This record gives sequence, C-alpha cells and structure tokens, in this order.
Amino acid sequence: MKLLSLSYERFRNLEPVSFEPSPHATIAVGENGQGKTNLLEGLYLLATLKPLRANRLSELIRFGSPSAKVTGRFLINGAEREISVEIIPGGRTAFVDGKRAGSLDAYFGGVSVVAFTPDDLSVVKGGPDGRRAFLDRSVFNVQPAYLDESREYARALKNRNKLLKDHAPMSHLQAWDATLAKLGAKLWVRRRALMTALVERARASFQRIGRSPLEAQWHYEPAHLGEGIDFSAASEAELTERMLERLDARLTRDVERGFTSVGPHADDVEITLGDKPARAFASQGQCRALVLAWKVAEIENLQQANGFLPLLLLDDVSSELDPERNAFLMGYLADSGAQTLLTTTDAALVQRAAGADTKWFRVRAGTLTEEFRSASSTG
Ligand SMILES: Nc1ncnc2c1ncn2[C@@H]1O[C@H](COP(=O)(O)OP(=O)(O)OP(=O)(O)O)[C@@H](O)[C@H]1O
Ligand SMILES: [Mg+2]
Repeated sequence: MKLLSLSYERFRNLEPVSFEPSPHATIAVGENGQGKTNLLEGLYLLATLKPLRANRLSELIRFGSPSAKVTGRFLINGAEREISVEIIPGGRTAFVDGKRAGSLDAYFGGVSVVAFTPDDLSVVKGGPDGRRAFLDRSVFNVQPAYLDESREYARALKNRNKLLKDHAPMSHLQAWDATLAKLGAKLWVRRRALMTALVERARASFQRIGRSPLEAQWHYEPAHLGEGIDFSAASEAELTERMLERLDARLTRDVERGFTSVGPHADDVEITLGDKPARAFASQGQCRALVLAWKVAEIENLQQANGFLPLLLLDDVSSELDPERNAFLMGYLADSGAQTLLTTTDAALVQRAAGADTKWFRVRAGTLTEEFRSASSTG
C-alpha cells in the first residue's frame, strides 16, 4: 500500500492543498501552531475515520466553514483507489472512488496507519482511559469491524447508565444487560487476540530500545471478572455468560453509584517493568521506551497480518525522546522502508530518517510549501 496523493479542503487551519508525499519519508517542518499536527490529523482521519486528538469530529471543520474534506489516492494491491471523508457538524461520510462507501470493510480494505504522538508518551503514567484508548487503536488497526462494535457497546452502556441514574425499574435495566454482555464479550475477545499477537513482539522490541536489563510486560485482564474463569482460554459465549452474571452481581452497587462497573470500559492494561508497575516506578525515559516498543510491535504485527507496512505518522516525537532513543527510532524508520509522515519544529532531529527521496515541506500559517534540500543538509 502506498499513499500517492493527499488533499485537504477546509480542514482546521490548512489552506486547500494537494500534494504527493514521498514513498518513504515526508517531513513537515514548522514553528508551533502552524498546522503540522493538523496535517497528520487529516491523514489519520482518512485512514481510520477516527479523530487523532479532537473530541468531536466537527472540531476538524475550518472555523466558519460548513464542512471539511480529506481525500487520498492510494495504491493498494496494484490498483489505484481514491478514498475520502467529508465531515459536517452532525457526522461524517466516507467515499471510495467517489461513491459513498457501502461498508467499512470496503472503505478500509488495505489501508492502515500507526500514529505516534506526544500524547502517546504519557500513556504509561496516565489514567486507565488513556491505556484503553491506546489499546483500542491497536485493535482497530487489525480489526476494522471493532470501530462499529465498540460504538455499539458505548451506546448500550450509555443507555444502561442513564437508567441507573434515573433509578429506572430493575426490569428495564436488565433488558439492556443481554445486549451489553454480548457486545462486551466481543470487545474482550478482540482485545485479547491483539494482546496475544503483540505482547511478545513488544517485549522483544523493548529489549532492543530500552537499554535496560529489566523485562517489560503487558497484561490485559478484565476487571471484576470474578473467580473460576480463565480469561486467556474462555470462549466468547462463556465471557458473555460471565459478564451477565457480573452485571447482576454488581447491580445494587451500580444502582447506588449510578454507573455500570463491569465491562471493557472499566478495564486497564497493566504494564510492568522488572515485575513492578511501570505507572508507579518507571522513569520517564523508560515509559517512552515502553510506548515506542509497543508501536514497533504494532507495526510488525500489521506488516505480518497485511503483508505490507502500515503508514506511519509521527507528530513531533523526536523532541520528546532522548538522543539515543530518537536515533533508534529514526534509524528504524529509515531501515523499515515504511511510508512515513513526520512533523518537527527542528529538522535536525529527524535528519536520520531522511533519505534521497525524502520530501520536505515547510508549514506556515496553514500553507504547505515544498522545500528542496540535499539529503545531508539540516536546519
Ligand atoms: N477548526 C479550526 N479551524 C481553523 N483553525 C483551526 C481549527 N482548529 C485549530 N485551528 C488552528 O490550527 C492551529 C494549530 O495547528 P496545529 O495544532 O497543527 O499546530 P502545530 O504546527 O502542530 O503546532 P505545535 O508545534 O505547537 O504542535 C492553531 O493556530 C489553531 O488555532
Ligand atoms: Mg503539533
């Protein structure tokens, strides 16, 4: 898969633009607040239909405009395809070759992206919601159906929580439980499969990056699952059954607190370093190496699953990494041969990822200007 061209219309502060990225590294350099992240955000939206950082898709629409649109031309399995996504205040529409996409599979077929942002770097020390979102992005990348499934789950959960808050009759509440348990078990199984595929790779890449004698470990297990069930081996039907039981067992407590306390939305990923929780004990540099290791594992896993590398988006992460880890990352990008879009405020930091076919752009007040420079120049 290669991204051949990309265009933006009324997207954030970006002036309408169309450009052809390099088959390898494309680097956008600019001062703060000029639109570098917006560029990556547009591509991320196109490839995932999810926002990279916005809370609402409508935030992506240029101030004062009715809609925004991002379009990309891709080469997938030897054929060219144009995909685009249009956002209006109430929603989004996806198109494949100019026609409304019939299904998500038709839309995503063959496009995948791994983004790495400064926000990711705080995931180890932050709250469980950040780790869940982080995990879910990885799941979604290999299982696009997860997007709809997790939305359905969130909707069912919201309904049940509303009934809890309103002190609705038990029978009304329990009417939701079967739906919630079925969807919840599905998400558990998807997350479990992702962990199985990724954890060993992440441990190994941590050894390569970490320069640490400590072993890293990632562990995911649903909270409040109760005794007598082996999460690693349970079937989806068993997990549905179990979630239903737990919803029931925790009902009085949930009614008191006004929210549902069991299910995928309440889980966490446990990250340990040398058997100690990384959240409490790992240094900042170690945390960043843990995140980097996870991303590298994700890239390798996608490459194996799809037979090609995902598109990589790196938003100004070099300034957040120490020089050696940054050198590892830049060397990794250059060696991987992946198509990469990087942003930076300081070209010198990403120089090692650049090669002869790197395209450099300057981002200034939402405009993009290609700059020609020799592979060895910096600044
Ligand atoms: N919906 C919008 N419409 C117009 N402009 C917007 C919109 N949303 C954000 N902006 C503007 O986009 C600019 C920020 O762009 P962006 O976050 O891409 O900057 P950046 O180059 O990544 O900066 P930094 O280096 O600080 O991360 C800000 O000036 C902001 O006001
Ligand atoms: Mg930015």
